Amino acid sequence: MEQVREAGFAGAESIERLYELLHATGMGPGWNKPEPSLWPLPKRTFVPAHWQYSLSRPAMDAAGRFVGTELAERRNLILFNPAAGDRYATARTMVAAYQMVKANETARSHRHSPNALRLVVDTRPGAYTVVEGKKIPMVPGDVLLTPNWCWHGHSNESDGNAYWIDFLDAPLVHLLGPMFFEPFPGGMERTEEVDESSPMRFPFAAVRARLDSMTPPGSKQVRLGPPYLDSMALFVTRLESGSTVVTERATDNSIFAVIEGGGRSIVEETEFEWRRGDVFVVPSWHKHTFRAAQTSYVLRVSDEPVMEKFNWRRQE
Ligand SMILES: [Fe+2]
Repeated sequence: MEQVREAGFAGAESIERLYELLHATGMGPGWNKPEPSLWPLPKRTFVPAHWQYSLSRPAMDAAGRFVGTELAERRNLILFNPAAGDRYATARTMVAAYQMVKANETARSHRHSPNALRLVVDTRPGAYTVVEGKKIPMVPGDVLLTPNWCWHGHSNESDGNAYWIDFLDAPLVHLLGPMFFEPFPGGMERTEEVDESSPMRFPFAAVRARLDSMTPPGSKQVRLGPPYLDSMALFVTRLESGSTVVTERATDNSIFAVIEGGGRSIVEETEFEWRRGDVFVVPSWHKHTFRAAQTSYVLRVSDEPVMEKFNWRRQE
């Protein structure tokens, strides 16, 4: 066989025949690729997009009529990017999803290699995320971490439905391959221990107090942590009413969620008006302009640590 192939290459009478022989032997001519493998600037494959809480909340309520948490691992709505061919990722490396757990309902415990966090939108006292055997209160505006391989489940012991937004680096794990998932033996990890000051919780009241005490006025930002997730950096920004904040094109992807307030964003040629509970994505290499209509607090989830780690963090 090898001899036949060697003879074939030696006897190739044209470059077209050479390409046929190369193809048949699992090789491609690097000088004649169907598409270039290197290009001068990041491609804008993922597109700016916006999801409204005013639409997703009734959608979750409707799902609540049909889908129980006994059936679904999670009752959540995936915010997939409208980029061609994508049905899962919100940005290339991250996914965001709205989730609802009804009053007196649990979402069973599990653990997975993707890192996750959630921003609480609407809950009443008695809604908890159970992380590693401790109940962490879910108060609107709070950010809760469940890093790589931490057991976590949700227990809504309040008298109302609980709504929040999840963020995971699962699309990055899909790209790289190291996916592991394990259900908790027996379902929900039951516990009576409440840990209000868990390091996995960033209460909004404390974050807001830090932002409000900063001087001078203008755009103010804090990074949440420690602890830090390895793949995603979390920032909360306070935007002053009437202010404009411009961010130049950068390699990192950002998913925003509005904790409080309202305004507009202009992402290259796309514009949207956002308010409390909304999510929007500014993919890699898109210029972003904020115009706050009211004093606003916005969470940004960014894959900046990945870009930093590999020295791929660049701004135009
Ligand atoms: Fe999970």
